[in-house]
Amino acid sequence: MHILGIDVGGSGIKGAPVDTETGELLTERLRIKTPKSAEPEPIAEVVKQIAQSFHWNGPTGIGFPAPIKGGVAMMAANISEKWIGVNADTLFTSITGCDCTLVNDADAAGLAEMAFGAGRGQPGTVIMLTLGTGIGTAIFHRGHLLPNTEFGHLEMEGEDAEFRTSDAARQREDLSWKKYAKRLNKYLMQMEKLFWPDLFIVGGGISKESEKFLPLLTIDTPVIPAQLLNQAGIVGAALAARKGE
Ligand code: BGC
Repeated sequence: MHILGIDVGGSGIKGAPVDTETGELLTERLRIKTPKSAEPEPIAEVVKQIAQSFHWNGPTGIGFPAPIKGGVAMMAANISEKWIGVNADTLFTSITGCDCTLVNDADAAGLAEMAFGAGRGQPGTVIMLTLGTGIGTAIFHRGHLLPNTEFGHLEMEGEDAEFRTSDAARQREDLSWKKYAKRLNKYLMQMEKLFWPDLFIVGGGISKESEKFLPLLTIDTPVIPAQLLNQAGIVGAALAARKGE
């Protein structure tokens, strides 16, 4: 099935039509900067622009940086608070004219990695982490997703974990890879203690540079980089929009 996958991120909104059988993008992806306000209407306009650029009017999956219940954004950490309570499914569907389905962005990335990437065939408990503007988490057991987990907001040293350990924090504080790995290790240790996972998969833009920090980690659970890099969000959003599964 061909579905348009769109990944709404803190800095960019990216999309491409996806073949959901193979996980391949059907064309090169289009990226447009996230409007500064990150409010509902301007973001929906960018999503419309992306759909139009592919002459798309079919099913569309949208990965969104918030927990999503029944199409409604429940919380807003790195986007405008105006999203809270908005039925984003309905908003995107009415503005684009495409049948839109929303999913949390980390859940989307996890679905893609489990189907086509680093998590393929992994039977136990797998935790996918996306390290970007925030920290997104997606938890799978025997391939099944527990949706909308928000462990980027685990409290550590009195703060949201993502405030100190996201890739944005690394850049903002200009941390060396060694210092960053130390922070990430602390966070992963905490997650390890809470979930006893069999595997961590680290995704987000930073996964391109995984050889700079993954070897510095000392936790017991294996940690591997995501394989779909910055395509995971697009592919997974398309997977989430398949109907009747
Ligand atoms: C949001 C999550 C999202 C993550 C990554 C967090 O701040 O609360 O819903 O998955 O950032 O974008």
